[in-house]
Amino acid sequence: MKGEVRMSVGVRMSNGVRMSGSLTAAMRARLEASGAVPRVHDLYEGAGTEFYERLVGPDRAEIREVLALARRTEGPILDLAAGSGRVTIPLVRSGNRVTAIDLSDDMLSHLRRALPEHPSVECIVADMRDFSLAHRYGLVIIGATSITVLDRAGRSLLYANVRRHLADGGVFALTVAGGAAAAELAVSRELEIRVPGPDGDEPYLFSQQMEEDGAARLVNWARSSDLADGGEVTVLTSRLRVLSAEVLARELTGAGFAEPDVEPVRTHRGDDILLLTTTWAGAHSGGEDHASD
Ligand SMILES: C[S@@+](CC[C@H](N)C(=O)[O-])C[C@H]1O[C@@H](n2cnc3c(N)ncnc32)[C@H](O)[C@@H]1O
Repeated sequence: MKGEVRMSVGVRMSNGVRMSGSLTAAMRARLEASGAVPRVHDLYEGAGTEFYERLVGPDRAEIREVLALARRTEGPILDLAAGSGRVTIPLVRSGNRVTAIDLSDDMLSHLRRALPEHPSVECIVADMRDFSLAHRYGLVIIGATSITVLDRAGRSLLYANVRRHLADGGVFALTVAGGAAAAELAVSRELEIRVPGPDGDEPYLFSQQMEEDGAARLVNWARSSDLADGGEVTVLTSRLRVLSAEVLARELTGAGFAEPDVEPVRTHRGDDILLLTTTWAGAHSGGEDHASD
C-alpha cells in the first residue's frame, strides 16, 4: 500500500526508502521497550488518512470564518491543501463552487466520497508549490495551518502561485497557531490523547520532537494498546515547520502582498488559531521573499 512501510526500529523500509528520521526518539524508545514492530505511515497517505479523519475530520474550527469570507466572494474559491475536505465540504454545501487541490489523492478520495459527482467541486491532485489553473479566484484558502507543511523555498513558490491565481482584489486567507497553541508546538513532548473512533475514543501516544533548532517538528501517533502487546503497531508520522503569524506576515509582505489582517479564530476547544487575510499589494516590498527559515 502506498505510504506504508514496515520496519524494525531504525532499519531500512520494504519500499527501499530510508525513513530514518520519521520516528521520534521517544517513539523509538517506546517501540524498543515494548518489542512492537512499527508499520510507518505518512499521515496523509493510505491508512494515515483514515487516522487524520478520526483526529481532525469532525473539527469545525475555522469553518465559520471561512464561510464569512466566502459570503463576500464573487465566483469560485480555491482551497489549497484541501485534504479530506474539512473546509471544502461546508463551502460547497453553502452554495459555493470550489476547486480543491491536494498533493494526496488518498486525502482527496475522502472528499470525493463525501460529495460524489458534485457539480460544484473540482478535485485536483497537485502540488500547491507548482500548479497552473486557467481560472482566477476571489478567495484562496489554506486552512488547518497547512502552510506549515512547506519549507521556506516551498512557501515562496506557493506565494507566487497564489498571486497568479488571485482575481483582482481577491483575498488570500491562511491560518497558523497562536498563543498557547503555538507555545505547545515549540517544545518536544509526549502525551496520551484520546482519538474518536467507531467504537468510542481510543488512547494514542502523541510524540513531538523539535528539529533544526526548533524550526521544524516531527510528530508521531501510535495506538497505546498496540505499543503494549509486542505485536505490530501502526505509527502515523508527519514533519512540519514551526511558523508564527509574524513570520508569515513578513514573508507575505516580502512577496508583494499587503500587510495581513490577523484575527483569532473562535474554536470549540478554545485552541489559539489565527486567521491571516491579505490581498495582492501590487509590488514586492523589497525582495525579502527568499529569507531563510
Ligand atoms: C493538515 S491537512 C489539511 C487538510 C484540510 N485543509 C483540513 O482543513 O483538514 C494538510 C494537507 O496538506 C496536503 N499537502 C501536503 N503538502 C502539500 C503540497 N505540497 N501541495 C498540496 N497539498 C499538500 C496533505 O496531503 C494534507 O491533505
